[in-house]
Amino acid sequence: MTTPAQHALALVLHGGAWDIPDELVEPHKKGLRAALKVGWDVLQKRGAAVDAVEEAIIVMEQDDTFDAGRGSFINGAGEVELDASIMNGATFRAGAVAAVQNIPHPITLARAIMEKSEHILLVGMGASRFAREHKIKTCSQDDLITSRELERWRALQAGGAFSTKDAFRRKRHPSGTVGAVALDHRGNVAAGTSTGGTPNKYPGRVGDSPLIGCGTYAENRAGAVSTSGWGEAMIKVVMAKTVIDLMDWHEMGPSRAAEEALKILKKKASGYGGIIVLNPEGDVGIAFNTPRMARAYQTSSMRSPIVEV
Ligand code: GLY
Repeated sequence: MTTPAQHALALVLHGGAWDIPDELVEPHKKGLRAALKVGWDVLQKRGAAVDAVEEAIIVMEQDDTFDAGRGSFINGAGEVELDASIMNGATFRAGAVAAVQNIPHPITLARAIMEKSEHILLVGMGASRFAREHKIKTCSQDDLITSRELERWRALQAGGAFSTKDAFRRKRHPSGTVGAVALDHRGNVAAGTSTGGTPNKYPGRVGDSPLIGCGTYAENRAGAVSTSGWGEAMIKVVMAKTVIDLMDWHEMGPSRAAEEALKILKKKASGYGGIIVLNPEGDVGIAFNTPRMARAYQTSSMRSPIVEV
C-alpha cells in the first residue's frame, strides 16, 4: 500500500509595512523568526492551517515590537483597543473582534467567535462579554501598554492633531500590524490578522484588519491573504478580497495578484501598505509600497526560511 503524497506546506507572516527604522530591523526579524518557527512546527506535525495561523499570531501579539497585543498603539483616550480577524478556508467561516480592550490575544477571541458563535464580528463590550463567557484570557490595560508607546502617545497628545493619512503620504507612519497565511497537509488554507490600529486613533476607530475581505480572507479554492498598512485606504478597495479575486477570476499567481492589488490601492485610494498571500499550490506572494515591510515565509520546497525587513 502506498502512502498518499503529503500536500505542499506553506506559511507566510508579516509584521507591518512602514518605514521601519534601522534599529528596529533586528527585533522585527527576531519576532518573525520566533513566530515562523511556532507556526511551521504546527504544519510539520500535520496540524491545521488555522492552528498555525493562530499560534504564529499569538507569538507576535506577545512581542511588544509589533502593533498587536502588548506594545500596540494607544488611542486618543489613552487606551489600547485591539482588532483581529481569522478565516478558515476549509470551512469558509470567519471570526473577528474590533475595538476590544483588556484582551492580550484578540486572535484567539476572533477564533472563538468563528467556532463558537453564529456571528462573524463582535465589537467592544459585546466582544468582552463573549471573551468572559468563553474563558478567553484577559489582562489589564497596563499589561498592554509599553513605555515606548506611552511616550509616543504623550508626544502626539502634546503635538496637536495627528493625521494618519498625512503620515503615510510622508512615508513616516509607524505601523506594525501582524498577519499570517498558511497551507496545511490537507490542502486547507487559513488567514489571520491582528492589530492595535493607528497611533492616537479616535476611540472606537476600526481599521481593515478585523474586516473580512479587507484585512483577511481565505477560501480553499483560491488562497489566503492578510494585509498591513493604512486601514482606511485598504477598506475602500476591499484589499484582501481584491487579491483573491485577481487570483480566482483573473487567474493571476499570488505575486502578480499582490502587485496588481497594490496598484489599485495606490490609484483608487492613494493608499500604502503590504500584502502576504498564498495559493492552494503553496506559491507565495508578498508585495508592499511602503519603504519596508517585515515579512517571513517557509514552504516545503525550501530548505530554510526567509526572514526579511
Ligand atoms: N492596517 C491596520 C489599521 O489600519 O488598523
